[in-house]
Amino acid sequence: MELKDEVRSSFKRSHNLARKYYDCGDLSKARMEYLKCARFAEHLSELTPSKRKEFHERAEKFREIAEGLKAGDIKVYTNGIVPKEERKSSEPRTAEDPRGRKDRAKELILVEKPSLRFKDIAGLDSVKERIKEAIVYPFRYPDEYRYFGVRGGGGILLYGPPGCGKTMLAAAAAGECNAVFINIKISDIKDKYVGESEKKIKDVFNLARGYERAIIFFDEIDALAGERSGSQEGHERSLVNELLSQMDGLEAKGTEKRYLVLAATNRPWDVDIALRRAGRFDTTVFIPHPDRTARRKIFEIGLADKPCRVNVAELAAMTDGYASAEIIDICEKAAKIPLRERIKEGKPRREIVLADFERVIAERKTVLLGWYPKAVRELTGTEEAEMFQELIEAGEGYVSRG
Ligand SMILES: Nc1ncnc2c1ncn2[C@@H]1O[C@H](COP(=O)(O)OP(=O)(O)O)[C@@H](O)[C@H]1O
Ligand SMILES: [Mg+2]
Repeated sequence: MELKDEVRSSFKRSHNLARKYYDCGDLSKARMEYLKCARFAEHLSELTPSKRKEFHERAEKFREIAEGLKAGDIKVYTNGIVPKEERKSSEPRTAEDPRGRKDRAKELILVEKPSLRFKDIAGLDSVKERIKEAIVYPFRYPDEYRYFGVRGGGGILLYGPPGCGKTMLAAAAAGECNAVFINIKISDIKDKYVGESEKKIKDVFNLARGYERAIIFFDEIDALAGERSGSQEGHERSLVNELLSQMDGLEAKGTEKRYLVLAATNRPWDVDIALRRAGRFDTTVFIPHPDRTARRKIFEIGLADKPCRVNVAELAAMTDGYASAEIIDICEKAAKIPLRERIKEGKPRREIVLADFERVIAERKTVLLGWYPKAVRELTGTEEAEMFQELIEAGEGYVSRG
């Protein structure tokens, strides 16, 4: 083969790869391939005097594209998973289309493949079972579900106090069914320009459709409707509608559910009524603070890498009412006491003892002491009180304490 032909075929290979990586959302690899395209085009321009200018211009163009895909501008991570090549023809968007490039740069979509499993989450057994029935089993046993004519899926709304495992559960659900996890914070996609947020929601669903199985997780779903006091502006109304219609679009895909939508909130009283009533989030699941057994397990997790022989059952008994995330934090803070004393004061401390925990716990009240009474106040007497009854019951202990 002539040198020119070799360069030309390398150029073609890189060009195909670049487009493929771009479609998969692997932008850093796409960028590398586009840079190679630029070098090959430059080389071809030297080797082909008759088309010198043309190749040179193409090289310029490829450099420009690569520049547009620079890491940092773009936050699409795919952990190297290659989605099914599937793209809506109505939205032709490639790196070489300048409009597409600009849109990509503005996206903030995180695609992960979690290794987290339900067993990594302490407690919440009945919640895990409900999620399994709604989404994990239909993913795992689609034929059985079809055979019995049972539809799985639907959206699930997780609500409950902060730091007790909502995000973790959503990620673990994806891990359990080997699906990609697309974690969207509503506040991140909200845009002050009319129509922009709707477009981002559409992008999220389109991105999900590129994968075989995906769980889309909308965190802080309450932010979708804005502040309750700030009345329903038409703008935000259309955001809610966009989400609902995208969810309908997913359902139309067939009996075998491949895409599922989870949403979470610490402020169920602010969740848009349309979302609650439209039936798209037909399962509403309360994620409570950890009970004693769960707290034991969380202490085991939090202390797994620390020198400590304190009985975790005792620690669990000392932390009634604390959020899961706070217990993990208590372990960190407790470990720092002997560490500090050893380094700064030269004390011969080798492990964390009960007194260290007592000190940390005495200094740290749980935020749930404030959260529960507020939640109960917000919900009591409203039409939705019944829907969130479990929260109100769980909050009783706090209301009497606070
Ligand atoms: N049930 C749980 N079991 C073990 N760790 C937990 C649990 N819930 C929360 N955590 C810890 O707290 C952190 C925050 O939890 P997260 O799921 O983000 O809470 P939420 O979304 O409900 O606010 C987690 O990263 C984890 O370290
Ligand atoms: Mg969360």
